[in-house]
Amino acid sequence: MTNLDLYARIEPMIGFYEAYEKLYEVYLQILESYAPGSVLDVGCGNGKLLAELSQKYHATGIDISREMVDIAKAKGLDARHCYLHELDASYDAVLAVADVLNYMPKETMATFLEDVAKHLVKGGIFVCDVNTLHGFEDVASGSLIVDEEEKFLAIDAEFEENILHTEITFFEKKAGECYTKEQGTIAQYYHALSEIVSLSPMKMIKNFDISLFSMESDKTILVFQK
Ligand SMILES: C[S@@+](CC[C@H](N)C(=O)[O-])C[C@H]1O[C@@H](n2cnc3c(N)ncnc32)[C@H](O)[C@@H]1O
Repeated sequence: MTNLDLYARIEPMIGFYEAYEKLYEVYLQILESYAPGSVLDVGCGNGKLLAELSQKYHATGIDISREMVDIAKAKGLDARHCYLHELDASYDAVLAVADVLNYMPKETMATFLEDVAKHLVKGGIFVCDVNTLHGFEDVASGSLIVDEEEKFLAIDAEFEENILHTEITFFEKKAGECYTKEQGTIAQYYHALSEIVSLSPMKMIKNFDISLFSMESDKTILVFQK
C-alpha cells in the first residue's frame, strides 16, 4: 500500500467533503462557460466530482492511488489507475482538483504541465487549484486525532521550507481480527503562482483565490488554455 492509498483510507475521517463540495461548484461553473465535450479529471480520488462530470460530459478520471480508483470504479465511473503520460487520448478540458499539483515537487510539476498540454486539444482548458501559503501555514498545518469505533487516526502536519510533511498513523480493527497499524508521510509542495505560470507551456487566462476552510484565501484556482 502506498502513502496515497493510506490517504484514501483515512479521507472519510478528516472532514474535507463539505468544503470540497464548494470547490466542485467552482469547477462546474467554470466548465459550464467552456462547454467541453470531453473532460479528464486527473487525481479523481473517490470520484465524487467525476460522478457529477459524467452526467454532463464524456468524463474520465485517473489517479495513481489504486484504492481511490477502486472506490471510484465501484460507483460505475470510468476511472483508471495510471499516470497522465500513459494515456493516449486528447480532451477538451483537463482538471486537477483539490491540490493535486501540490503533491508534485517542482520538476515533476513542470513535466506534468507539459503532459497536460499534450493531452489537450487546441484551445482546450486546464483548470486546477493549489494551496496558498495561508492554506499551508494556517489551515493544513497542525494535529488531528479522530477516534471512531474500531478506527483511530492521528495526523501531524508540519510546514517547513515550503513543504508540508503530513505524518499519518492509522489503526483499524476488522471483525474478528486484531488491530492493524499503518503509518506513512505525505509531502506537499507550495508553488507560487508565478512559478506555475512560468513552468506551464499553456497560457494562464484566469486566476482567483477562494476560501474553503477559513475566512482568508486558502486556495487559488487557475485556468490555462492551450
Ligand atoms: C486531495 S486528493 C483529491 C482527490 C479528488 N480530486 C477530490 O476532489 O476528492 C488528491 C488526489 O490526487 C492523487 N494524485 C496525486 N498525484 C497524482 C498524479 N501525479 N497523478 C494522478 N493523481 C495524483 C492522489 O492519489 C489523490 O487521490
